[in-house]
Amino acid sequence: MQAIQRVLTGITTTGTPHLGNYLGALKPAVAASQQASTDSFYFLADYHALIKCQDPQTVHRSGREIAAIWLALGLDTDKATFYRQSDIPEIPQLAWFLTCMTAKGMMNRSHAYKASVDDNQRQSNADLDQGISMGLYSYPILMAADILMFNAHKIPVGKDQIQHIEMCRDIAMRFNHTYGEHFVLPEAMVDEGDTKVLSGLDGRKMSKSYGNIIPLFAPTDELRNLIAQITTNSLQPGEVKDPDTCTLFEIYSAFATHEETLLMRQAYANGIGWGDMKGQLFEYLNDYLSPARKRYEEIITDPVYIESELQKGASKARAHSEPFMQRLRSAVGIMSLVSDMGAKSAGGKVKKELSQEEQVKVDAGKAKAMAIAKQRAEHDTQQLKMRVDELINTINASSDPKGAGEAALLDLRTQADSAKKKAKKNLQQIVGLLEQRLTS
Ligand code: TRP
Repeated sequence: MQAIQRVLTGITTTGTPHLGNYLGALKPAVAASQQASTDSFYFLADYHALIKCQDPQTVHRSGREIAAIWLALGLDTDKATFYRQSDIPEIPQLAWFLTCMTAKGMMNRSHAYKASVDDNQRQSNADLDQGISMGLYSYPILMAADILMFNAHKIPVGKDQIQHIEMCRDIAMRFNHTYGEHFVLPEAMVDEGDTKVLSGLDGRKMSKSYGNIIPLFAPTDELRNLIAQITTNSLQPGEVKDPDTCTLFEIYSAFATHEETLLMRQAYANGIGWGDMKGQLFEYLNDYLSPARKRYEEIITDPVYIESELQKGASKARAHSEPFMQRLRSAVGIMSLVSDMGAKSAGGKVKKELSQEEQVKVDAGKAKAMAIAKQRAEHDTQQLKMRVDELINTINASSDPKGAGEAALLDLRTQADSAKKKAKKNLQQIVGLLEQRLTS
């Protein structure tokens, strides 16, 4: 049997995902999450967004849009764990532990930081660190915390992120060496196969920073207009055209089937006109994208639904991060001075000091027990609510709801009087809830 691989990736919540992001990241990620052998963790990297964007509205809106896009593309949030980084308080806590394990010299070599230093050099700024925040400087550490928090094996990323995964491995190794084996060493998963980088409107790589993108869910008219802007050459209809240097063909073939692509190749040989080709590309993309775009338009207007999906993901993610962080805290020596397990029965006696390993185990056990108890309590509350809903339905359906309500309360109270312990408490809670509902 193949071991389950944990795959994790994040999307920074600035800007609008475009066709290149869809082909290079979103589409393969949704497909991977459907495989039985993968356990996928996908998240909205909103703490990362603060590095590049200080406009609260953009950060907020972009988070909502990107969440809606994942959901519209059919991500199965029961199978995958889909969450927002900022809902997991253990991530920034871990980032600090890792910061203390990271060589400053390594951060000096980070591409993202060096690119900004180079910019300052080019502009002959006296201060080479001008405009560079500590967020930008140390963001590979936050990224390492994202990954190590969930002990992910494979990280699907673009080529520009490979260095960050290497840094993450380095930090994890140093932590493991110092504090014991806690972290899996992750590997970058870079797609070099058939998904080459998609070109944008002007023929350069499709990228926010070139302003040449086609947003994934651009409305029909905008899509048509953007395709009309794609750069071509001055060849006339009837003249033979080269599909392999043409952005229109490149985008078409990235979406079309093999057969459709061959037919289009033939159309280029037959001298298809640019206007005609743009029309065909528009029709093709519009048909391809419209079912998901329709779902997107429904979802984006339903923030309650999006939020509930994110909360579901956060509680799944925290079932890992809470106990794991507890274990890591113990590992570095940040823990309670007295283990309060069985503290009551100690009867004033001085408790035996635990070794670090024992403490790690005790703390992990406690955290797990707390998580289970919390889950159980949530389940019980849910059951109680359902029971009360049923009672309310029966009461409302009767010919005399008021009388039926009173009778139900009386009956429950009598049952509670003779019931024992947990059953008694349950019945009392039901009485309480029912009273509230009947009087509201
Ligand atoms: N930095 C990544 C990017 O800009 C996004 C990201 C944040 C990420 N945390 C991550 C990707 C963890 C993979 C794993 O594309």
